[in-house]
Amino acid sequence: AGWHHCPVESTGPAVIAHRGASEEAPEHTLAAYRTAIESGADALECDIRLTADGHLVCVHDWRVNRTSNGRGAVSKLELADLNALDFGSWMKQPQNGESPEWERTSVLTLDRLLRLVAESPRRVELAIETKHPTRWAGQVEEKLVELLRRYELDRPSGDSAVRVMSFSARSLARVRAELPRVPTVFLMQFVRPRYRDGSLPAGVGVAGPSMRFVRGHPEYVERVRRAGHPVHVWTVDDPADVELCARLGVEAIITNRPRQVLAQLGR
Ligand code: G3P
Ligand code: CA
Repeated sequence: AGWHHCPVESTGPAVIAHRGASEEAPEHTLAAYRTAIESGADALECDIRLTADGHLVCVHDWRVNRTSNGRGAVSKLELADLNALDFGSWMKQPQNGESPEWERTSVLTLDRLLRLVAESPRRVELAIETKHPTRWAGQVEEKLVELLRRYELDRPSGDSAVRVMSFSARSLARVRAELPRVPTVFLMQFVRPRYRDGSLPAGVGVAGPSMRFVRGHPEYVERVRRAGHPVHVWTVDDPADVELCARLGVEAIITNRPRQVLAQLGR
């Protein structure tokens, strides 16, 4: 069974590496995901965007400015343009003056990330987030569905499992229409009054409230559970927040520091 089926009491929350082990290596790079797998994370989170020539790449911001040596919108650049950029060197170099392994690392495509997971010596799951889906009127989801099918990730009971997350209920509905067996997670920065009773948009299986919201409204977790949905909280880096999530019995926490969180949970 996947981590969404694991009884909370036995293992505590599943640990999902946010953008990879993004505290140890540059977010959304192979190095960050390899580090997350090596540190024992249960799953890998990544944000996806579509390039001008229709490739899904793992980039959080709409522009490449913060996480590369280039400039401009992902949607206006082609994969070849992104491949020419350096997505690693922006992160602080180690003090000893040695070059880190991620220097001059190029953009990570979703295809490459899925291959990494497929080749992983141990089971590791995926939590893929669609960003700004309306801009491309369904093309992000279309490409995502195509890739998940190619890697046989459309069946949650396989060797590896995936779930799709979004702040957009519409984006999640598009994915479910094609892949009804892939669970979807509705992300909420702030839970709107209509969902405070623990309900979710029709068809959505999992609640994804922010840590900030859960801190202020811990009773929400129990309400969601009573409504029959697992809870995945983001982004949980502070040890006090990890402890609160474990005490509330949430099913998964999404963190930039999987190694430390796993150690705190005694795993
Ligand atoms: O895991 C959900 C979380 O990643 C959503 O926020 O901005 O980090 O994508 P963001
Ligand atoms: Ca994200």
